[in-house]
Amino acid sequence: MFTRSNRRTLTAAVVCAGALALGTPAMAGATPGPAQQSGVLSADAGVSAKAADQAGQKSNGRPDHAGQPGKPDHAGQPGPPDHANGKGKGNGNGKGHGNGGGQEAPEQTQCQFTPEGGAVEGAWGRDTLAGVAPDDLRIGNIAAGGGHHSDADYPDPFPSDPEYREHIAQEYSSVTHENYLKWEFVQPEQGVYDFEQADAVVAFAEANGMDLRGHALSWHSQNPDWLEEGDFTEAELREILEDHVRTVVSRYAGCIDQWDVANEIFRDDEAASIRDTENIWIRELGPEILDDVFTWAHEEDPDALLFYNDYNVDGLNAKADRYYDLISDQLERGVPVHGFGAQTHLSMQYGFDDTYQENLQRFDDLGIHTAVTEIDVRGAVDENDRMSPEDRAGAAERYATVLQACLDVSLCNSFTIWGTLDAQSWVPNTFPGEGDATVHEGDYERKPTYCIVQRTLVEHGEGASAWEDDASFEECRGILDAAGL
Ligand code: XIL
Repeated sequence: MFTRSNRRTLTAAVVCAGALALGTPAMAGATPGPAQQSGVLSADAGVSAKAADQAGQKSNGRPDHAGQPGKPDHAGQPGPPDHANGKGKGNGNGKGHGNGGGQEAPEQTQCQFTPEGGAVEGAWGRDTLAGVAPDDLRIGNIAAGGGHHSDADYPDPFPSDPEYREHIAQEYSSVTHENYLKWEFVQPEQGVYDFEQADAVVAFAEANGMDLRGHALSWHSQNPDWLEEGDFTEAELREILEDHVRTVVSRYAGCIDQWDVANEIFRDDEAASIRDTENIWIRELGPEILDDVFTWAHEEDPDALLFYNDYNVDGLNAKADRYYDLISDQLERGVPVHGFGAQTHLSMQYGFDDTYQENLQRFDDLGIHTAVTEIDVRGAVDENDRMSPEDRAGAAERYATVLQACLDVSLCNSFTIWGTLDAQSWVPNTFPGEGDATVHEGDYERKPTYCIVQRTLVEHGEGASAWEDDASFEECRGILDAAGL
């Protein structure tokens, strides 16, 4: 078994396999019908598709990123016996997987959104989260917009707020579209794709050398009405799903590093039964459709890591067991599943299982990646939208425990916080009376949760003395002292 420290780091040198032209129908020929696309990269984003000869370099102008993994490392490693896709299927090109031992590496697709400029200054400095994370762990946040923001009295943060974008680029090395890649945004009318918002996030990430998590290709929620209320035959639905998956994945091939291919497929009942009524795909096409969705996505981007993703899988529980069994079975059958994502939406009103790490570890033992994909820790709030000091301290400890688990599990390469400012987080909107779930106060001041994440990263990488002695961390040392942490 290799360790985090001897894993190969990547320099994101990928080979151009012919960038797709912007605005052209993706995967013509591979999809069962012409897909109309709209929403080409907007000039406002300050970026454009880059020439093929600049292929693959994350030309973000940041200081010091050489040797950072452009992608989570899953190459060149000795792996477990013959899963079609787990770690250890190194193909020698520093990026791919699942290509079969000893075979010639196929050319890799160049992200078509590679920018010419636009990087935020001063990103990933010493006193940030991404700046102190180990090379093989991406620290992420969301591109906030869509979903509940659409009903709010402010415009979508990501496209409208430069301060928000700057903050994200400075602190984080990965970004997830909060809503813009969900079906209701991407395919608002049947066969009509709108990528405008999603493209801008991808261009931003590329400009700033950030990884991207794609969320989500199939789900029971946030589907457009035409789909949920339509009257389709099985064959038609299958065609609709295949077209969507191929169109979206191929558009972002080489850009999106990890995809949530199937989101929240099991319920919260005792048996963690499969969502065979509320999930249109499973209801109409049977759970076997999951094999196809992963396979289609893999065919369109063989280098992307393909994940299941769910909430309430924060320990050894029934729902997590169902994923373990399903993924084990799919791996046996050669289905290209590469990862298990624990959303990790926690509440101080509920307990927290001490088997979080053990759960991630068993997926790691299968040879697949794990990720903390949407962490936030909420609790009952007062009139100032704050948790009690005790709950704040408890929330900080949960952030630290989850991060430490990810650091200690070999192929946990991504840790994403779901939200930046509490006033804009999905939490108050979804769980009335609860809040204070993110790591920043309303003015981007750091909370104890931010500082404990930073301390955990520093102590993991450089030891306790670096944390105690380095003047860069003075602010957070003070915040943690004041919180008694
Ligand atoms: C949430 C978004 O944050 C909201 O804006 C939206 O209104 C609803 O969805 N699990 C998921 C995410 O997989 O997509 C959800 O995001 C939060 C729970």
